[in-house]
Parts: sequence; structure tokens; C-alpha cells
Amino acid sequence: MNRKKFYIETYGCQMNFSDSEIVASILTKEGYTGISDPLEADIIFLNTCSIRDNAEKRILHRLQALRSLKKKKPGLVVGLLGCMAERLREDLLEKEPVLDIIAGPDAYRDLPLLIRQVNAGEKGVNTQLSAEETYADITPVRYDSNGVSAFISIMRGCENFCAYCVVPYVRGRERSRDEHSIVKEASELFSQGYREVTLLGQNVNSYRWEKEGITVNFANLLEKVALINPLLRVRFATSHPKDLSDELLEVIARHDNICKAIHLPVQSGSNFILGMMNRGYTREMYMDRISAIRRILPGCSISTDIIAGFCDESEDDHKDTLSLMEWVGFDAAYMFRYSERPDTFAADRYKDNIPDEVKEQRLREIIDLQQKLSLKSNRRDLHKNFEVLVEGFSKRSSEQLSGRNSQNKMVVFPATGNRPGDYVTVNVERCTSATLIGQAI
Ligand code: 5AD
Ligand code: SF4
Repeated sequence: MNRKKFYIETYGCQMNFSDSEIVASILTKEGYTGISDPLEADIIFLNTCSIRDNAEKRILHRLQALRSLKKKKPGLVVGLLGCMAERLREDLLEKEPVLDIIAGPDAYRDLPLLIRQVNAGEKGVNTQLSAEETYADITPVRYDSNGVSAFISIMRGCENFCAYCVVPYVRGRERSRDEHSIVKEASELFSQGYREVTLLGQNVNSYRWEKEGITVNFANLLEKVALINPLLRVRFATSHPKDLSDELLEVIARHDNICKAIHLPVQSGSNFILGMMNRGYTREMYMDRISAIRRILPGCSISTDIIAGFCDESEDDHKDTLSLMEWVGFDAAYMFRYSERPDTFAADRYKDNIPDEVKEQRLREIIDLQQKLSLKSNRRDLHKNFEVLVEGFSKRSSEQLSGRNSQNKMVVFPATGNRPGDYVTVNVERCTSATLIGQAI
């Protein structure tokens, strides 16, 4: 019996959180025990992110802290998982002697073996990418869960090669997971009391599963998951504007339990920059998709990702981003300053030529505008009723419950004896730019 205790610290996107649940499942099957206190652990894994330079810097910083922990506890095994492990590979073992294991995103089945290698006095390394691995047969261990909402990974990798992005290099070829295993996982979650699943992938709307002459696309898959039970809410992320079909929007419209919230990263409002970025659509094409959402899904919220200060971005290009933001009236946005990533197309072919102060200034303007748009969006919801899925108590007070509406907005209201997993209709009385506040009715 293996009584060793492991701890996983996760950085980055939802996909990484979902992967950590797969890692936990693989290790638990081998008899290891997952714990929530790193100081008690025999094995510490950092599941890492490479998307921007500051994400990697944070992790390198954390490794320094682990050095002193390992001095106090010489048998401690430290492993790096995920995108940064894939990007830097063996190089890191020399630079960071605290590391014993390096495992890329497609190598998690190998972790028990890598741990045994470390116990035998070697280092454990596997950064092989796979064209097939989807971990379809592994039931994730939901170790850090509210018991209400869960992630289900439906595809891995990306082949879009946006010029700025490191993902295609660290997560490899795009591949979709067996449709049956996804529906089964969602059904099991529902039986266990979960009331919301988020289907995850770098580009969910290019999901495609083919078997025996039958093709299941993302619209088909989404509908199958929605049909499990009307009480199971279904969300998904992330969609790419270039393949957001009307067919998909119509499926969303047909089912009340498919959430009316679409995350559609735009990155820039300038056609010149979108071309440089290799995004595969123009400003006009993006606007056409927004119009389709407004037409087919009235009341649907739209959120986005924006990058400020990409290579050669002029003041006019930046203004185009601001004007597109206004035109769409995004409900929410994740906003970043451009960070050059080694070996990407942009790093190889373009100059990272926008000075830091200018990137900062443009990002500031983008954030300020979004703040206004978010507040405006929330004000439109005043005095409306929303069905809220209760997730737990609010961060501020145990007298307040919090949950989200279909549009993915956080809603807070006085506790009414309801429990996590209950649906409650809430009338919105007040708001900030981040939260709707109301009363259960
Ligand atoms: N610099 C800044 N932001 C980036 N993103 C991806 N790569 C970079 C980069 N090199 C942003 C994009 C993407 C989100 C997940 O991260 O907006 O949609
Ligand atoms: Fe990166 Fe573009 Fe793929 Fe998104 S679609 S992961 S931004 S390459």
C-alpha cells in the first residue's frame, strides 16, 4: 500500500484545473493520497502556464520557495507539469535543481513511473506530445470542488497558430474526445448532485468526433449533454469566432439549460492587427457573428479576450479596438498586454516594437472602457428576475448566498435557507460592475 501524499498547485486556465483533476485521479488509483497542505506533502506538483511571461515568472518564483522547503525536507519530490514543463523541458532540470520531475500535458499517465524513477535516484522526464491522448477513460477526481459545478475536458490541443500564442507548441495537435465518454461523465456528475458542467477546450466549436461513418460536431455534442436533464446547466469555453455557426446558436436557443453566455475572444478590433495575428477573421466577420448572437439569442451575454500593444499596433489600430468594444458592448473581458513568447510566429518574424509605457497606456484605456461597459451591462439587469444556481456563501458574508445566472453574472442575495445546487429566482435591486445584488422571490 502506497501511503505517500501529493499536493497539486494549479496555475493558468480552466483547462489546467481540469488536467489537475486527471492527474489526481491517476495518482489516487496508484494509492497516493491527495492533500490540501503543501507542507504535509511528500510530492508537490506545480501544474504550470506559459501563456504570458509573467505567468512563468510567478512559477519560477514559487520554485525558489520550494528550494528552501526541500532543504528542510530532503525526501520531498517536486514536479513541474503542464505547458511550462513542455516548453522548457530538460533545460529546467539543470537550471532548477529543486525539480525531480518534468511532465508535459500528454504525459500524465506516466507520472507513477516517473515518481518511481525519482525514488530510484534518477530524474523523471516525459514531454512527449501525443496526437491521440484525451484521457477519455479517466474519471477526474473533483478534489477542489463546490459540488455544484464541474469542468469536462472535451478536446485538447490547438492548431490555429495565432501568431502570438504558445498553446499550439505546448499542447500539441487538436484532438476531440469520444462523445460517449463525455456524455457519460456529465450524466455521472448529475447523479452525484452536480448541477452545472462546463465543456472545455482551446477551441470547442471545432469539436469533431467521427466513428462508423457518423460525425458528431460541437452543436450535436452540446445538445446531447443538454438532454441529460433540464436541471443540468451546460456552459462551454472557449469558442473561436471563425467557426461559431448559426447551427450552434440555434441549439443554444432551443435548450433553456444551455447557458446564454458566449465567450468569444476578439483580441483586436483592427483588421491589420487581426491579419498580423493570423486570427482567420476580420472585424466585419466578428461583427457579423455578434449580430447572429443578438438575433438568435436575445439576452445572451458576450465576453471576450483582448490583447493590447501587439507588434506594429498603431494608435488607430488601438482606437479600432476601443470602437469595436463599444459597438459590441461586451458584458465582460479579460484584457492583457502583449507578451512575446519565444518560438512563436510573432517572436520569429515580427518586432515586439510597442514600448512598455504605450502598451500599459492602451491596456489602461481598454480596462477603463470595459469597466464602464460592464457597469452598463449590469445596470440593464436592474429590477429583472434571474434564475440563479446557488454555489455557496458569498465571499464577504455567511448571511449572503452567491451563484451565477445563465449569463454567467455573479449574483449575491440574502441567505434564504437554500443550499448549494438549488435554483433560486432572484430579483436584482443593485449592482456593481462585477456583481448583481438582489432578493430571492
Ligand atoms: N500575450 C498576451 N496575451 C496573450 N494571450 C495569448 N497569448 C498571449 C500573449 N503572448 C491571451 C489571448 C488569449 C488568452 C487566453 O490569453 O487573449 O485569448
Ligand atoms: Fe492560442 Fe489562437 Fe489556439 Fe487560442 S486559438 S489557443 S489564441 S493559437
